[in-house]
Amino acid sequence: MESKTELQKEVLRDSLEGTLSDHPTQGSHGVNYHHAFTGTEGYAFYMPTLNLIGVGALNGAGAQISELGYKKALIVTDKVLVKVGAVDAITKILDGIKVEYAIFDGTEPNPTDIQVAEGLALLKKEDCDFIISFGGGSPHDCAKAIGVLATNGGIIQDYEGLNKTTTAMLPVVAINTTAGTGAEITRFAIITDSKRHVKMAIIDWKVTPTIAVDDPVLMVGMPRSLTSATGMDALTHAIEAYVSTISNPVTDASALHAMKLIKTYLRDAVHDGKNMKARDMMSYAEFLAGMAFNSASLGYVHAMAHQLGGMYNLPHGVCNAVLLPVVQEFNAKKVPILFIDIAEAFGHHDIGEDADLAVKRVLDDIRSLNNDIGIPKNLAEMGVKPEDFELLAENAMKDACGFTNPRVPTKEEVIELFRLSHVQ
Ligand SMILES: NC(=O)c1ccc[n+]([C@@H]2O[C@H](COP(=O)([O-])OP(=O)(O)OC[C@H]3O[C@@H](n4cnc5c(N)ncnc54)[C@H](O)[C@@H]3O)[C@@H](O)[C@H]2O)c1
Ligand SMILES: [Fe+2]
Repeated sequence: MESKTELQKEVLRDSLEGTLSDHPTQGSHGVNYHHAFTGTEGYAFYMPTLNLIGVGALNGAGAQISELGYKKALIVTDKVLVKVGAVDAITKILDGIKVEYAIFDGTEPNPTDIQVAEGLALLKKEDCDFIISFGGGSPHDCAKAIGVLATNGGIIQDYEGLNKTTTAMLPVVAINTTAGTGAEITRFAIITDSKRHVKMAIIDWKVTPTIAVDDPVLMVGMPRSLTSATGMDALTHAIEAYVSTISNPVTDASALHAMKLIKTYLRDAVHDGKNMKARDMMSYAEFLAGMAFNSASLGYVHAMAHQLGGMYNLPHGVCNAVLLPVVQEFNAKKVPILFIDIAEAFGHHDIGEDADLAVKRVLDDIRSLNNDIGIPKNLAEMGVKPEDFELLAENAMKDACGFTNPRVPTKEEVIELFRLSHVQ
């Protein structure tokens, strides 16, 4: 008779093989690494100091906050999350560890400079010594901006661009509820300038949160449309990071695995929000995609999406989803070879060296995924007006996210990309 240990090993092996054999993207791997840019100071990798992922991560955060010895938190969140009681998950933990808090629920999707100033005023009034952001990308970005102003002074416009802060921001613990923007781990804060109606990109390693928390239990309540939009945001991060001019093997590995997971699990997460495996894998996917773009940066999908968000206050993920196939078709004319690994990550193992076939498969897959998860067909459906294309294009060309796009478009080409996305 087999010993107990042998039996356990066999069960484990069977269950692993069972899982793998069911996995439609088994065996794919990215090997066509590209290093278009070598730089003169080496590559930098940016991550929060501590990252807690998986079921129970929220409790883990409580233990860590307790150890750090902060006195009073400003919880930066939004009214919806307060209303549905989601925020109770963190306030209960803070009560348990006897850390005081004040709640700023004034963040709205596409947070503005005005909301940042309001949050800062509350932080000062309540004398908070650290910040907890609770929600999706909007509360995280708003919290980072508040944290920057608390220690650096001035207004948030002063920090638009790359590495403009001079002092570390107030510590931020970012508890994430969407999958997602990756904002809980990134060095980006995207804040709308309420006068110019543009989204400012504050890109600065000093806005990286201290602790990032991705507990999929907090993501189960996302409605379908939010799951689709945020999932496509994550896919856009992975693809833009992969084709970025400053990608490297570490960001490539993160990006390709994120693509693989999103292709496999996003449909399930959208159509059955209670599917914990899909929620869990999507939370890893958005984290991996965040890791990829945090160091490799993004491209023209984001540069253009930010303008749509700033001008029409549209959901960020939906803007990305609609622009993604059009901008990648444009990029593929310059770097078709990169689409071989993307196709492989999407589960196409019969591509060989046929880059044209890879491009076709990837674009078809993105379009059918968009269609299956209820993303609008085009920008016209979203109320975008052709008379705005010129200004949108002009501003997109100034967005720092576009600087690493593999193909540099002219203004006319950006207008054309908006036009194609409008009618596709
Ligand atoms: N900083 C970065 O690295 C980065 C990257 C990409 C996008 N962004 C920014 O992030 C913002 C978008 O963030 P987002 O897409 O995560 O959404 P969001 O934070 O704007 O939230 C959208 C809505 O979803 C609700 N919501 C959040 N979590 C929920 C949950 N678990 N259940 C039910 N409802 C929930 C919120 O209350 C809100 O009403 C944009 O402003 C975008 O520019 C930032
Ligand atoms: Fe994004």
